[in-house]
Amino acid sequence: MTDLAPQTIFLKDYAEPHHWVETVHLTFALSPRATRVRSKIVFTPNDKNTGDLILNGEQLSLKSVTVNGAYVAYDTTDTHLTIKQADLPQEPFTFEAEVEISPETNTALEGLYMSSGMYCTQCEAEGFRKITYYPDRPDVMAVFTVRVESELPVMLSNGNPQASGDGWAEWHDPWPKPAYLFALVAGELLAHAGQFTTMSGKDVELNIYVRKGDEDKCAFGMQALIDSMVWDERVYGREYDLDIFNIVAVDDFNMGAMENKGLNIFNSSCVLASPETSTDATFERVEGIIAHEYFHNWTGNRITCRDWFQLCLKEGLTVYRDQMFSGDMRSHAVKRIEEVLLLRARQFREDNGPLAHNVRPESFVEINNFYTATVYTKGAEVIGMLRRLIGDEAYYKGCDLYFERHDGQAVTIEDWIKAFEDTTGRDLSHFQQWYSQAGTPRLSVEETWDNGTLTLSFTQSTPATPGQDVKKPQVLPIMVGLIAQDGTEVVPNTILEMTESSQSFTFEGLSERPVASILRDFSAPVILQREMDAKTRAFLLANDTDPFNTWEMGRMLAKDTLVAMIVDGTEPDPAYLDALKTMLSDTRKDPAFRALCLALPSQDDLAQTLTDAGVTPDPMAIYEQLEELRHILASAFKDILPALYADNDAGAFKPDANGSGKRALRMAVLSLLTLNDGGAAARNLFETADNMTEQAGALTALLSAGTGQEELASFYAQWFHDRLVMDKWFMMQVAVAAPLEAAHIADKLTQHADFEMKNPNRFRAVFGALQANHGGFHAPDGAAYKLLADWLIKLDPLNPQTTARMCGAFETWKRYDADRQAMIRTQLERILATPNLSGDTTEMVSRILAA
Ligand code: TRP
Ligand code: ZN
Repeated sequence: MTDLAPQTIFLKDYAEPHHWVETVHLTFALSPRATRVRSKIVFTPNDKNTGDLILNGEQLSLKSVTVNGAYVAYDTTDTHLTIKQADLPQEPFTFEAEVEISPETNTALEGLYMSSGMYCTQCEAEGFRKITYYPDRPDVMAVFTVRVESELPVMLSNGNPQASGDGWAEWHDPWPKPAYLFALVAGELLAHAGQFTTMSGKDVELNIYVRKGDEDKCAFGMQALIDSMVWDERVYGREYDLDIFNIVAVDDFNMGAMENKGLNIFNSSCVLASPETSTDATFERVEGIIAHEYFHNWTGNRITCRDWFQLCLKEGLTVYRDQMFSGDMRSHAVKRIEEVLLLRARQFREDNGPLAHNVRPESFVEINNFYTATVYTKGAEVIGMLRRLIGDEAYYKGCDLYFERHDGQAVTIEDWIKAFEDTTGRDLSHFQQWYSQAGTPRLSVEETWDNGTLTLSFTQSTPATPGQDVKKPQVLPIMVGLIAQDGTEVVPNTILEMTESSQSFTFEGLSERPVASILRDFSAPVILQREMDAKTRAFLLANDTDPFNTWEMGRMLAKDTLVAMIVDGTEPDPAYLDALKTMLSDTRKDPAFRALCLALPSQDDLAQTLTDAGVTPDPMAIYEQLEELRHILASAFKDILPALYADNDAGAFKPDANGSGKRALRMAVLSLLTLNDGGAAARNLFETADNMTEQAGALTALLSAGTGQEELASFYAQWFHDRLVMDKWFMMQVAVAAPLEAAHIADKLTQHADFEMKNPNRFRAVFGALQANHGGFHAPDGAAYKLLADWLIKLDPLNPQTTARMCGAFETWKRYDADRQAMIRTQLERILATPNLSGDTTEMVSRILAA
């Protein structure tokens, strides 16, 4: 046995490999339990760092190894194959090996596995080593040729098709790539075909491959792909570089999708869409993820990461790019609010707890545990700040230089930043600290007015995070504008660049004291602490020209109201109810925006807000007061709800910004209306809706009002054959369950014939919903903690990656009272004590417990 304790890997230890790879030839003879993989790899010794040939390999049954066609001595462990330097030529040589693997029994969904009868792969980050022996690290880039042998009709790999015959197909990818971008798919698949002509006139064949029965759910994804290709040419000048681009939909997948070169593989929930089965939110997600994976072709594939510490180099940038794309396709104002909601819900939560880490971590045990909100969404915020600081023109110039300078290379954050230093002549070393300091800065502001001059005095500080006690000030672009008392804007968008702990900025020559709108468009990922009365908030809500801050003022009013209700039972301020009512009835405002204004802060958000204010959150009180406020709103808006509901009927379903905005407002209104009309409108809509947004919206409104059991059953009868709709059926019931019932409902659902723990979508439908149901998860009896722990323990041996990810449910445990903390500790310790617990889950639980 060589099963060593999992090792911590450090950024500072990076060293080039001893050998580079020129070319790789792989032959796969596919078979469910005995797939043979033959590899022929041309290695070149690295004269800058000489040594043994070290190859990664896990769970492989090795059949043969040769070097230049002859016997060679080698060593294997559970994780490596090593050949001594002395036994190798000091010039390029050919290594050949044959291994056997078992895709059918691979439930971890990493490496080569089977899903609903098809073969597929997932190699990022370190899955290729479960396919064959190879230097499985992103700085080793090579040209791949792949031959697939099987009786299945469709056989795909990266690059361009080269040749095929009866029972085999060959693919050649001319672009050097790291092994994590390798992909192979084989199955009985149908293609939804499309076509694209690039800006230089090259024809590209496009396909979305799906299983039979899913053909009618591809059209929207195909259009999103074409829109993405056009956008990347127009906005970044980036053209596609192969003759073919394939997407495959797979039912069993650990994450959303994967950007394998020329062969993107998608969780079917992130590519399939049809009006009858998918909500507007799904359409929006599909569009964004297709764009994300396509954009990786340049930011990730043509230019990749030197090592996994640089993950944000490709992910932060690609998220930023997909966000801009979605804004262009829909509405920047709405998109920005949605981004901030997500950032606060996931990344701020992470940054405030035991799992806080740098955008570029400096050490890890299991890299899979670092595909986080911090790397992805805070990584994107950092790009957005950079662009605000240097301006649009310099931003695109810097990107051009980056693409030109590093095409075909595996690079670092330093290389990225250098491209902008070289285009602007600016020293960005302080800015770069965003990559190496964890935690969310608290930014406070005070205003003084003196004889025509307004002074804004800012102070920033960042609380300590695990392993980082001392924090330095960050570079903050703070966008502000000033509004006069009559509502006109006297100073338009201005970026204040803060670099110190405390800094003041003045605006002179003002004829009267204006109201400052601060941190417009959420220009930096900070928590703004600003004393403001309800009147000023209502003023900005009515008069600010910045849509983000307009929404933010409504949100602050709602939060203040709820905090006061929770902490000392104060009745909601009529000023808040009036402002919200005015906003809702203002038909000049985008319905999508009004829907966002009507949505109340989440229970988790309120729990964090109370924690920040030094109050131990009581999850039951939070739940009850939110319910109470819903009833208060329903009754205060009694006279406007029916008309709002009727006027926002979007008519024939189109998944565009306009239609989805109206439906979003209509469904938010319906949820309140249901509290007034006994569910009449919702029942009617449930019966007549021709699209899933309204059908599921009606059902959710009924379930949230404590009824709808009949509709729930008829929903099942209508959709039991559609696994993606069934995920919604599972999810909804747990999501809206009352606190004392949630764990029981989730438990019962796990006993349902359609519950499959091996399918990550289904597992997440139940347990993702359970942890997202704040009151239910933190019910006083601790039943939900125990149920989740039971299932994590069951899932871990099958799928460590998804198990580890779901442990994040417990990351906020230190917020709560001693009883809850004790119950959670018991469950975490029980998980950790499980024999043979995976390295992934061990790392997550230990980090959470160390809080
Ligand atoms: N690189 C992928 C993306 O962001 C995500 C990814 C990383 C992934 N590891 C994965 C997807 C494992 C599935 C399984 O686009
Ligand atoms: Zn990505």
